[in-house]
Amino acid sequence: MNGLVLYKSRYGATRQYADWIATDLRLPVIDPERIDERLLAASDFLLIGTSVYNGDLLLKTWLRGNTHQLEQKKLFFFIVCAPSPDVSKHGQIIMDNIPGALLRPSTDVFFLPGRWIFSDLSPSDGRALMEKALAEDDPAKKAVLSQDSDAVKKVNIAGVLEAVRSFVP
Ligand SMILES: Cc1cc2nc3c(=O)[nH]c(=O)nc-3n(C[C@H](O)[C@H](O)[C@H](O)COP(=O)(O)O)c2cc1C
Repeated sequence: MNGLVLYKSRYGATRQYADWIATDLRLPVIDPERIDERLLAASDFLLIGTSVYNGDLLLKTWLRGNTHQLEQKKLFFFIVCAPSPDVSKHGQIIMDNIPGALLRPSTDVFFLPGRWIFSDLSPSDGRALMEKALAEDDPAKKAVLSQDSDAVKKVNIAGVLEAVRSFVP
């Protein structure tokens, strides 16, 4: 069976997870926005990694534009989110970003905790995060939003690896 790891990352958290997953499963890693159509057509299963910004997946538009090519394939999504993920928002992120035709019972979706390092962020992303912190009432959440936070660890990919290994004969 042919599998590919496709991902989009802004500051490297999703890239790190994609590299760990691809190395452990011995799969190629490809930029979905530059992929050769024939390579995509020849694949049986895809691991699609993307981070989320203000509720939107970086690959939201790409998923919409390529739904037809993805429809027949086994899909494993790994969505990289806040370092302390808010599980109550995961369903909404899925519904808002992944086209319904790709949300079949066979589709697996994993949320992996990410990171933010203020000195790496663009001025607008740094400002957006500070604005979220200012608007947050919960003191614990406010503290997390106001400082560097890094929850990217290799152990977090265990569930993804297990799902893929149980699918691939
Ligand atoms: C401006 C900004 C907005 C964000 N918005 C969300 C969000 O809506 N939901 C969420 O779970 N994480 C959010 N995050 C956290 C990112 O998804 C997280 O930092 C992730 O690790 C980024 O991965 P990347 O470096 O691969 O792009 C946001 C981060 C920033 C800097």
